[in-house]
Amino acid sequence: VNDSFVCVSDFEEEARKVLPKSVYDYYHSGPEEQRTLADNIAAFNRCFLKYGFLIPFCVGMCTVRMPILCCCNITALRLCFYPACQAVGIGMMLSSWATSTIEEVMSAMTAKSGTGGVLWLQLYIYKNRELILSLVQRAEEAGYKVIFVTVDMLYLGRRWDNMRDQFKLPPHLSMSNFSTASLAFSEENYGNNSGLAVYVAKAIDPTLCWDDITWLKNHTHLPLIVKGILNGEDAVQAVNYDVDGVVVSNHGARQLDGVPAMVCVCICVFLLICLFEMYQYRYRCPPSISYELTTAVAKLLERSSREWEVPGLIPYAAAYMS
Ligand code: GLV
Repeated sequence: VNDSFVCVSDFEEEARKVLPKSVYDYYHSGPEEQRTLADNIAAFNRCFLKYGFLIPFCVGMCTVRMPILCCCNITALRLCFYPACQAVGIGMMLSSWATSTIEEVMSAMTAKSGTGGVLWLQLYIYKNRELILSLVQRAEEAGYKVIFVTVDMLYLGRRWDNMRDQFKLPPHLSMSNFSTASLAFSEENYGNNSGLAVYVAKAIDPTLCWDDITWLKNHTHLPLIVKGILNGEDAVQAVNYDVDGVVVSNHGARQLDGVPAMVCVCICVFLLICLFEMYQYRYRCPPSISYELTTAVAKLLERSSREWEVPGLIPYAAAYMS
């Protein structure tokens, strides 16, 4: 890295040159025709110009009230992200699939005095429930502060590039939180498919449902946040199941092609929350002012969810306007 790297695409181009093709493709590609992936980028640029001022508010409203650097991918996470997070005082969500263990990352944090830095665990729901509990217990014992449970990966997205490459981890890496080759994603042969798709099909529970969230809540004293919510109904369900927060995410456009761009959903959710707050407020101030405000925000929500194809939120706007 040198001064000639001035924007994200410079790093991207360099990565393409230096990484093995299958590794670059893993980071770079989304599923199927990559429509959501393209839209994630286009929408971010579009919304940033128009609504960029809202983004700090969206972040500020998270339960944890701090920005999140989400190191969710398998990533050759050899402790390289942690110092970056610590330096800027933001939290890091460690994937259970990381190539450094829960304990290694925590001891790298405590070994180095510095500002801020909080660790959270990102969890997948394995078919083997004992395995989940052992990861949770290790995170609790190591001092992690929050469990983020991923709910948008019952199957791996059909990432065509990874299928063509028959993607596996490079031989010097494994998902080091696990002790068997099969769970550590380091088997020799995954056939002609993406190795990760085979891994997910074998290990992850495709029948995940809300009762599993209750089960998990009953087995940890840490706050539980559901990651991968993309519509109003699911957000309401999450609240009904008493979770401590939700992460509005389309998994970096890596799972289901065709879902709305993340930044659009975030801004719609932000407007929805404003609407909710104003609705409460409506009963405490002169009816005409509060009615005008709620109606204006509801209209904005309705228009933006339609324009950005976030249909799950339109009924809420309609309800507030009626
Ligand atoms: C993991 O979360 C991935 O998207 O590959």
